Amino acid sequence: EKKACIIDGKAIAQTIRSEITTEVKLLSEKYGMVPGLAVVLVGSRKDSQSYVNLKRKACVEVGIKSFNVDIPEQVSEAELIAKVHELNANPDVHGILVQLPLPSHMVEENVMNEISIEKDVDGLHPMNIGKLAMKGRDPLFQPCGPKACLELLSRSGISVKGKRAVVIGRSNIVGLPVSLLLLKADATVTIINSHTPGLESIIREADIVISAAGKAHLNATFLISDVCMAYVVLLLLLSERVDENKTYNIGMAYSKHKPSIKGDWIKPGAAVIDVGTNAVADPSHRTGYRPVGDVDFDQVCEVAGWVTPVPGGVGPMTIAMLLRNTFDGAKRKME
Ligand code: GUN
Repeated sequence: EKKACIIDGKAIAQTIRSEITTEVKLLSEKYGMVPGLAVVLVGSRKDSQSYVNLKRKACVEVGIKSFNVDIPEQVSEAELIAKVHELNANPDVHGILVQLPLPSHMVEENVMNEISIEKDVDGLHPMNIGKLAMKGRDPLFQPCGPKACLELLSRSGISVKGKRAVVIGRSNIVGLPVSLLLLKADATVTIINSHTPGLESIIREADIVISAAGKAHLNATFLISDVCMAYVVLLLLLSERVDENKTYNIGMAYSKHKPSIKGDWIKPGAAVIDVGTNAVADPSHRTGYRPVGDVDFDQVCEVAGWVTPVPGGVGPMTIAMLLRNTFDGAKRKME
């Protein structure tokens, strides 16, 4: 039996970053302008902090100016919206990304609504999502994670047209928009969720599986346990990585490592794209945890034709797509 090809998201993302670096140079030679991205972080969730840092670093590496906006947790929704308006009006800012989730005292949609659609590089403004959902129309920007999934497929030579695709999860950030992108690419799309009966047999029909189960784990054994969370906090305390006098929002789904998607759920030869980012406690890791996907990687490798690893799959590609969107937005402004 032949093992699955591992889709190296990190390497593909690096190729795209080099492409963008060249394009940024050409744009600046032609128009004397530098693309700019504002990455807005509200609060101090550890996971959001690390995503935001990666995004800001990636900008600088390709020659995009990063506008770092850090806003305290307690800030009101109105104050955050005022900041968004200021960025909308700043001609040096071509893209605005507000890292999600926002603190619970804010309504995410109210904030997303205020981002100029010309600067909505995350593609999460209702107008951009709406256009994505309509046949014959195109949004100004496609959401980065979903775009990353399709780019990984196309750069691996996997065609989508006429294929059966199953999407696990229906979040605004991944599940729903990736389903819409697959539809646009002429796939036959089934979207399943935690209420779907017999999901294994549905997944087994798929030529393409996109798993974005998120925190609403499909499998009861996958639920986050408070005991497990307490264990992680204790480990962090013992290793002196946290200050016991401070309150921390750990804010990530620490769970026991029980990947939900098994090898025998997969049609032989299928392409499996794993968008899951579940943190499991790992004291040997610098951060005290390590990310694992939704997929039982070792099992699925034995059956699938292609599979993306976590980490090193969709994650780095999502950041590359953010850079791509920012560049495209800046270029569109000039042309
Ligand atoms: N949180 C998790 N993924 C994303 C993303 O792609 N964009 C934003 N803004 N927040 C996120």
